[in-house]
Amino acid sequence: EKYKLIAMSGSLRKQSFNTALLHSIIELAQDDFDIDVVSIELPLFNDDLIDPDEPEVVAALKQAVREADGILIVTPEYNHSIPGVLKNAIDWLSLEPGTPLREKPVMIAGASPGILGTARCQIHLRQVFATNRANVLPGNEIFITHCKEKIDDIGLHDEKSIHQINKTLSEYRKWIDFWKRNAKN
Ligand code: FNR
Repeated sequence: EKYKLIAMSGSLRKQSFNTALLHSIIELAQDDFDIDVVSIELPLFNDDLIDPDEPEVVAALKQAVREADGILIVTPEYNHSIPGVLKNAIDWLSLEPGTPLREKPVMIAGASPGILGTARCQIHLRQVFATNRANVLPGNEIFITHCKEKIDDIGLHDEKSIHQINKTLSEYRKWIDFWKRNAKN
């Protein structure tokens, strides 16, 4: 059985390394996962917009996350942290009652031209997801460093990175299985 994932890229620009990485991950994952990329171009979070109903795009995103077996986040690091557009989407999804983030298995990856490959952003993401009791895959970090040399128009072409992604996808499958078994008991 293939698992269904909702994927978000933290970068909105067309030539984004992270969006290219996301598409390479989708290809590498195709035997085990069906992955839908969703837009995170949402209104800026504002409590006033919830009254009387949250915006339709937000309701649709929440529903898509609710129905998915997991979330895949592929994002750049901005100023040593989470890009605002992505944080904004997480803030919308985190709203109680009924956040779809709770107990949702999450896998994180990121690419940057630097030597840390979004490591600092990913630490912050783990903290934010923990607050929402999402189940981020422990360990298995995917940091694509020096991404300009590893990602081009056709996608990711670095063998070590591809190996790490394949290993992580297989761990992520087991992680989703674990939580599904847990939910039944
Ligand atoms: C960056 N960049 C960056 N890179 C990094 O490794 N650590 C950082 O803290 C930052 N900070 C940062 C802030 C802002 C506002 C921008 C626009 C960029 C560089 C970033 O990694 C680079 O632009 C990537 O190419 C962005 O990812 P996409 O859009 O190619 O996916």
